[in-house]
Amino acid sequence: MKTKRKEKLNIVVGITGGIAAYKAAIFIRSLIKNGHSVVSIATENAYKFIGEWTLKTITGNEVVDDVFMENSTEATRHISLAHWCDLMVVTPATANFVAKAANGIADDALTTFNLSFSGKKIIAPAMNTEMLNSPQVQNNLKMLESYGYSIIEPQAGTLACGDVGKGRLADTDDIVFEVEKSTYPQDLEGKNILINGGRTKEMIDPVRYISNKSSGYMAKMLCEMAALRGGNVTYIQGDTDVEAPKGVKTIIKVDSADEMYENCMKHTTDYDIAILSAAVADFKAAQYSPKKIKKVEGEDETTTLELSKNRDILLSMGQNKPKDATLVGFALESNSGIKNTTKKLKDKGADFMILNSLEHSEAFGDTNNNYWIFDSSGTCSEIPNANKKVFAEQLFTRIAHTIK
Ligand code: CTP
Repeated sequence: MKTKRKEKLNIVVGITGGIAAYKAAIFIRSLIKNGHSVVSIATENAYKFIGEWTLKTITGNEVVDDVFMENSTEATRHISLAHWCDLMVVTPATANFVAKAANGIADDALTTFNLSFSGKKIIAPAMNTEMLNSPQVQNNLKMLESYGYSIIEPQAGTLACGDVGKGRLADTDDIVFEVEKSTYPQDLEGKNILINGGRTKEMIDPVRYISNKSSGYMAKMLCEMAALRGGNVTYIQGDTDVEAPKGVKTIIKVDSADEMYENCMKHTTDYDIAILSAAVADFKAAQYSPKKIKKVEGEDETTTLELSKNRDILLSMGQNKPKDATLVGFALESNSGIKNTTKKLKDKGADFMILNSLEHSEAFGDTNNNYWIFDSSGTCSEIPNANKKVFAEQLFTRIAHTIK
């Protein structure tokens, strides 16, 4: 198995003749922004929806649109392109392309290249719902899947023809995510990964609650990194300020620490890796008031709210940890970081505890920080000045190494 990430890929983007072809320009821009090189292959009908010069300008390369190109000195361009290419993406893929690819037809530049290239292939179909649901298209898609193509499911919504149903091209970001997945080793393939994140909200009355500054950004980066490396991710998401992570199998939204606890405990026996990054409130109101609490005339300048302790999820999961599973916790500390983190690691029964120190950074949101990974054997390694994506990547490299 590939163990190192290949960050920059040579990608052939095939464009076929559907209205969503215009979106290929935005998709290619994103690939180039991410550092990849792109050559486009357009079918004759693709040019009805996107111009040659658009593709040429964005990719910085000639568009391949004929097996026998007038101004090419190469008679076997499809073969040399196949040698150059790391990944092929066809977006949008029409029913016609899907049928030809499934049945080995090679009658234009794209379908000829498709047969010449034996590497990874991603297909993003887009078509009318009836066409998509036809037994022919469904069988052809199944056949392509059995040949190892990755199919990105079309979305449901209003289609260009006015019909409402499934068939719209998947979001550009989702296709880009699938491409990025190809750059990572699939070292978490088949692993069930439970992640919690964000902050909990402990209601005091119908309008007030206790919470904290956690943004949920760390959990988003952890979820996406796990998915990029092939993991089946279940995300128990508290209150957050950020968009839902991409590539996650199941997202369960919760508010309170009690809900977070109940949902995490449902998974105590079926995870391979659990990472508890949620900022769970340590206390909740001892007595929830179903009516808004009013100020009382003549009341003192200070008042007291009685709090009761929430259950500790990491502690409970540490006590019920399945054999061979890996349990990871976070320690957010403003002082005595090393001492507090090693104590939490031991007390809560985690395999790894990450020190996220408030001494060097604000630690919340999309910020860089120094992280220390403590493990149960007593060793500690530092990840200095890392953003959360880099941190997540290094954490999973460390975990993948230990679970092999
Ligand atoms: N944690 C938890 N359930 C709680 C409190 C914390 O699962 N009720 C988890 C957090 O998700 C984190 C780890 O325990 O992975 C440490 O959380 P942290 O807030 O740093 O420490 P606490 O144990 O809450 O202790 P303190 O607030 O006193 O530092």
